[in-house]
Amino acid sequence: MKPQSFDTLAATLRAGSGLVIGPDKVYLLEARLARILKQENLKDLDALAERIGGGRAPTIEREVIEAMTTNESFFFRDDKPFTHFRTHALPRLLASRPQGGRIRIWSAASSSGQEAYSLAMILTECKAQLGNRTIEIVGTDISREQLTRAQEGVYTQFEVQRGLPMTHLVRYFKKDGANWRINEALRAMVTFREWNLLADLRGLGQFDIVFCRNVLIYFDQPTKTRVLEAVAKQMPTDGLLYLGGAETVLGITDRFAPAPGERGVYELSAGRAPAPVAAPILARVAGN
Ligand SMILES: C[S@@+](CC[C@H](N)C(=O)[O-])C[C@H]1O[C@@H](n2cnc3c(N)ncnc32)[C@H](O)[C@@H]1O
Repeated sequence: MKPQSFDTLAATLRAGSGLVIGPDKVYLLEARLARILKQENLKDLDALAERIGGGRAPTIEREVIEAMTTNESFFFRDDKPFTHFRTHALPRLLASRPQGGRIRIWSAASSSGQEAYSLAMILTECKAQLGNRTIEIVGTDISREQLTRAQEGVYTQFEVQRGLPMTHLVRYFKKDGANWRINEALRAMVTFREWNLLADLRGLGQFDIVFCRNVLIYFDQPTKTRVLEAVAKQMPTDGLLYLGGAETVLGITDRFAPAPGERGVYELSAGRAPAPVAAPILARVAGN
């Protein structure tokens, strides 16, 4: 591939999704974009770069961005954040959020939905403690393909064997041919929406808990800072942020500080909490 073609593709990905790729990742471009070359009848990546350069083909550009996302996810991934959510975050929230109120949880970069549904399972197990509070779980991702999968809630045998306790498989899934379909009650607990983390996040409203895991690793430092600071603005002062095992706020932003004694859990820094963002949903909560 010509260096200028690489530059065009890399710039498209960085501007469109935050993904940063170095010249050592040409093999990844070749592997993941082969389908688009075939579909568009393009000879090679130089021809693709030529086609999308200068914003000439936004639809193909979108497909390129989507094809380059890494969508790996599994139920109760890394376990600890979910245990922390159940044993610390949720009791804390329930103590501070009045009956009749609303608790909002965000799986930012939700991929095929396992993270959001893991949270829905925990909330179902804790149902008795929730009282008459409304719980809203929102999963967002840039990938339409993954969002469609998440909305359907159908997983392969391999996917349900990764991280999901057998008891949960029996309780929350039904066999669907060779696959497993999540039950309707759980499916209805989660709303999935297409949302780019680089876009204006204010339309999503405020979230008490944010799981933003295993996505910042693909971004460069200024993009991580930008995203984390935008996320902070969507949280109340006592909100909690969960990051992936290879991610941190340290050296990236001082809007968040590690929760004492916890890895991967972050609180808004004292005295640096941004003003809460007014959003339509918040207005509805206030009117409850
Ligand atoms: C590796 S998955 C992580 C899924 C889940 N959070 C987990 O930890 O298992 C990363 C997801 O981030 C999404 N993604 C990448 N860039 C994004 C962006 N700019 N905005 C929203 N989602 C993005 C990808 O489409 C992909 O589904």
